[in-house]
Amino acid sequence: MAKTLALYLHEMETTHAIDPRLTGLINHLAETCKEISFKVSQGALAGILGSAGSENVQGETQKKLDIIANEIMCRACTESGFVSAVASEEMDHALQVPADAEIGPYLVLFDPLDGSSNIDINVSIGTIFSILPAGTPHRDVKDEEFLQSGRHQLAAGYVIYGPQTQLVLTLGLGVMMFTLDIATGNFYQTAQNVVIDESTKEFAINCSNMRHWEAPVQRYVTELLAGKTGVRQKDFNMRWVAAMVAEVHRILNRGGIFMYPKDHRDPSKPGKLRLMYEANPMSWLIEQAHGKATNGHENILDIEPTGLHQRVAVFLGAKEEVELVTSYHQ
Ligand code: F6P
Ligand code: MN
Repeated sequence: MAKTLALYLHEMETTHAIDPRLTGLINHLAETCKEISFKVSQGALAGILGSAGSENVQGETQKKLDIIANEIMCRACTESGFVSAVASEEMDHALQVPADAEIGPYLVLFDPLDGSSNIDINVSIGTIFSILPAGTPHRDVKDEEFLQSGRHQLAAGYVIYGPQTQLVLTLGLGVMMFTLDIATGNFYQTAQNVVIDESTKEFAINCSNMRHWEAPVQRYVTELLAGKTGVRQKDFNMRWVAAMVAEVHRILNRGGIFMYPKDHRDPSKPGKLRLMYEANPMSWLIEQAHGKATNGHENILDIEPTGLHQRVAVFLGAKEEVELVTSYHQ
């Protein structure tokens, strides 16, 4: 029988001196995502589809499930005893641990439900998380304390709610995948030390925005589209699921490059995706799988954050392709 997530985490405590409070938090997150997974699987039966009629801090319309997943994640994390505070895509500021609950040495950032536009059409969505050090456990955590570069992450991962529910995790010791067995309620390890090929013939970008992109991205994608008869001398395939979780999951499983570039429409927005709870955790997974992740100029993990909800251009996946599109920005 395959190894459970709990056993993997226990092994990491003994072989790599991973703090049991960190593994405790990850086990807790896995349990929490099981709850979200169940809600997702219920869909219309649980009355959770559709819009909530509100907007989040990014000015995006919130779906009912965005709000439900956020509440589940917030409650679970702040009651876990392992965190000093949490931050989420769905909340303007950090959320503190209630006065009567224990605090711990970690900060958790999350996108409770990534790929929201897929909720109502029964296509893959996910929860993304990033765990940072909080120093000595404390209360009244300021938003600024979360502003640590992706290199400071202690653990990162996502849970994808697709045909299977899978948890993909890194502690900086490779990328491990676990599949939820709904018969036993356990996550079992189904892939270990995942590695992405350096080259690929598959790319993902929302081409409907092509006319708004900057010149380097226009050039790169035009060359991909030219295929065998163009400068790249090979045909490329394209995919777009519209959920970053699903794009990264595909890349970890069969390679590729994913891009969400900045564009000319709103100069105040350097991209669509959020650095702290989308780009950073995903970039760390990709680097751990021997891929690369940049904003076109520097490695995403090296960016010094300035805001909890700051946006960033993202190019991630197969090393050769990410290096090429990055070189076009120079
Ligand atoms: O979280 C933002 C997000 O939903 C990502 O998951 C996804 O990659 C992207 O936006 C989809 O963007 P678009 O609406 O342009 O397809
Ligand atoms: Mn998202």
